[in-house]
Amino acid sequence: MTTMEETTAKPHIRQTQLLIDGQWRDAQSGKTFTTFDPSTEAPITEVAYAGPEDVDLAVAAARQAFDHGPWSRMDARDRGRIMYRLAELVEQNLEELAALETWDNGKPIRDSRAADLPLVVDCLRYYAGWADKIQGQTIPIRGDYFCYSRREPVGVCGQIIPWNFPLLMVAWKWGPALAMGCTIVMKPAEQTPLTCLRLGELALEAGVPPGVINILPGFGDTGAAIVRHRDVDKIAFTGSTETGRIIMREAAETLKRVTFELGGKSPNIVFADADLDAAIDGAEFGLFFNQGQCCCAGSRLFVERKVHAEFVKRVVEKAQSRQLGDPFHPETTQGPQVDEEQFRKIMDYIERGKRAGAECVTGGQRLGDRGWYIEPTVFDHVSDDMDIAREEIFGPVMSILPFDDLDEVVERGNQTMYGLAAAVWTRDAAKAHHVAHRLRAGTVWINCYDVFDAAAPFGGFKASGIGRELGEIALANYTEPKTVTMKLG
Ligand code: NAI
Ligand code: MG
Repeated sequence: MTTMEETTAKPHIRQTQLLIDGQWRDAQSGKTFTTFDPSTEAPITEVAYAGPEDVDLAVAAARQAFDHGPWSRMDARDRGRIMYRLAELVEQNLEELAALETWDNGKPIRDSRAADLPLVVDCLRYYAGWADKIQGQTIPIRGDYFCYSRREPVGVCGQIIPWNFPLLMVAWKWGPALAMGCTIVMKPAEQTPLTCLRLGELALEAGVPPGVINILPGFGDTGAAIVRHRDVDKIAFTGSTETGRIIMREAAETLKRVTFELGGKSPNIVFADADLDAAIDGAEFGLFFNQGQCCCAGSRLFVERKVHAEFVKRVVEKAQSRQLGDPFHPETTQGPQVDEEQFRKIMDYIERGKRAGAECVTGGQRLGDRGWYIEPTVFDHVSDDMDIAREEIFGPVMSILPFDDLDEVVERGNQTMYGLAAAVWTRDAAKAHHVAHRLRAGTVWINCYDVFDAAAPFGGFKASGIGRELGEIALANYTEPKTVTMKLG
């Protein structure tokens, strides 16, 4: 039972306006939209809804800040120092930000505190360290010339993010862009605008100059106006593969640089020689973490037939032991889905799984009648051609697919348009690496799942994306390389 004493208090909401050129403003149209608490379906607050006129103003501010400085021309050490200060401010306000994230998104407070927020701080700090380490090369070319390269910032970056890790996605996007000296027009997801706005406030407090970070809450039309804008040089997008396709098409008109982090249907492969306790924990965590709303969720769980029966029995017990409820309660491990649209989509997949003949071993129902809660659901005997094995469900629905041998499971694992992540569980190290090399995925975890670090690149093969985030490699997304050649003598 939840008691008032145990439950974290809701934070005061400080910002609901647009951030343009260092100023907080209403939308030109005066329009607002409501953001809701997914655990009660109650409105939290109204937020300014940016329209095309606001996009024009924000892009002009970002353009001015980029073209005329100081951000892009500032001493890189000073840029890094401001970013370190921002990381520190996030750390100082961690409790408030975690509570705000939980309120807006519905994720358990223990996850916001122990997973999302620490990763946000790490990411900002990691990229702060890169700010003064962006170096070019001297290039030996034929003839009497001095040739060298520079890595210059790409310019004004439109950044469009989803609702599943609202603040973490801000950090992944701002970190490398700011380190490179780019300026930003960001659109948070319509479901979860609040923590991004609060981070905007902290960025100003940290000393990020006006116009360097602009924040435009809104829906898809706001994002589309950013994508179409002629003065935006680059788009970084995280979200559905479908919207990624639309953005790529739209961005073609102005030949914008694009990087995408899109959907997935990641194979999680358990061999019979695995440490089964660890594999069961990893399978449960890898699928149900964040209410199953992870692009890299281990949503095709391949289990070698020799251990299949035991595995299913034990993973079902684990699923049933999840604590569903008020996300503000410290013991809660599973909150509601983010909104009614996602809830309905997931319930529809559950029905389709049943109709296709998969065996629903546990769950499958809504929990209660207020808040978008779905029971942890496990389907056994799923076959490769079923919708639940092919499409991204983005919810707490596990699909178990038995297999017999290594070549078979590698082939089946790769039979998807996606290629974001994968995992292998085995005590045989050579087998683990062999399988890891053959899987067409941007990240492969061996005997672990969902291990993220600011230093380790993440992103997708195939329809799961273009480019990588995190690590040194993500700086390339925000770089225009320049070659300078001078005649000597
Ligand atoms: P979405 O891809 O439509 O939305 C993500 C972001 O893009 C939001 O900020 C949204 O306002 C914006 N957006 C939407 N249409 C746009 C357009 N035409 N131009 C520019 N920006 C646009 O994802 P949605 O509708 O929230 O979820 C649908 C499905 O997408 C989910 O059920 C899930 O399967 C998948 N998804 C995957 C994510 C991932 O991390 N890879 C994150 C969120 C959703
Ligand atoms: Mg959408």
